[in-house]
Amino acid sequence: MKDEGNNIFSVFDEILPRGEKERLLKQKSKVIWMTGLSGSGKTTIAKYLERYLHENGYLTQLLDGDNIRSGINNNLGFSDEDRTENIRRIAEVSKLFLNCGVITINCFVSPTKAIREMAKSIIGEDDFIEVFIDTPLEVCEARDVKGLYKKARAGEIKDFTGISAPFEAPEDALRIETADLSIEESAKKIIDYLIPIIEKKA
Ligand code: ADX
Repeated sequence: MKDEGNNIFSVFDEILPRGEKERLLKQKSKVIWMTGLSGSGKTTIAKYLERYLHENGYLTQLLDGDNIRSGINNNLGFSDEDRTENIRRIAEVSKLFLNCGVITINCFVSPTKAIREMAKSIIGEDDFIEVFIDTPLEVCEARDVKGLYKKARAGEIKDFTGISAPFEAPEDALRIETADLSIEESAKKIIDYLIPIIEKKA
C-alpha cells in the first residue's frame, strides 16, 4: 500500500549519519548485488566471500532468495510483478544495512535489467556493486541441486527463470564465469575488486 505523501514525517536527516557508523566499523559500506540463474552458485560464492570478509574484520550481512522468501517476502511468488516487489523490498532492506555501515551481500536471481535498475536506483549507483554469476544454463540444469529444473521442464513450476521465464544478462557487471573457476577463485575475483573500495583501516 502506498502512502499518499500525507502525515509522514521522515527523520532521515536527524538520525546518526552513516559516516559515523562506518568510522566505528572502520569500513565503507556497500551492497554487493549478485545476479544469476538459480543454481549458478551465487549463495555458495557469497558464503565464502562473507566468511573471508568476516575473518578480515568486516561486518557483513548476507541476504539470499530462499531465506528472504521464507520470511519478509513469504507472500510473493514469481510473476514479474511479484519479483519486482521482492527486489524492491530487498533493496530497501539493503539500504538500511548500508546506512548502518554494513557490507551487504545479496544473492537474488533478479532476472531482468529493469528489476536490477530499480534496485540500483533505490540503493544508489555509488553503493551498488553488480556481480554477474555467469554459469551457463546447461551447467545449472545438470547440477539441479534443488531439483527445480526437472520440475520446471516437467511443467510443474511455471515462470521458472531460464526455462519458462527470461533471464537478461547484465552488460556492465563484474562478471564471474564460474565454469572455469573454483568457488575460491570466483570469490577471490570479487574480493580483489572489493577490498580497495571498502578500505579497512587499522
Ligand atoms: S527473484 O527472481 O525474485 O530475484 P529470488 O532470488 O528471490 O528470485 O528466488 C529465487 C529462488 O527461488 C531460486 O533459487 C529457486 O530456489 C526458487 N524458485 C522457486 N520458483 C522459482 C521460479 N519460478 N523461478 C526462479 N526461481 C524459483
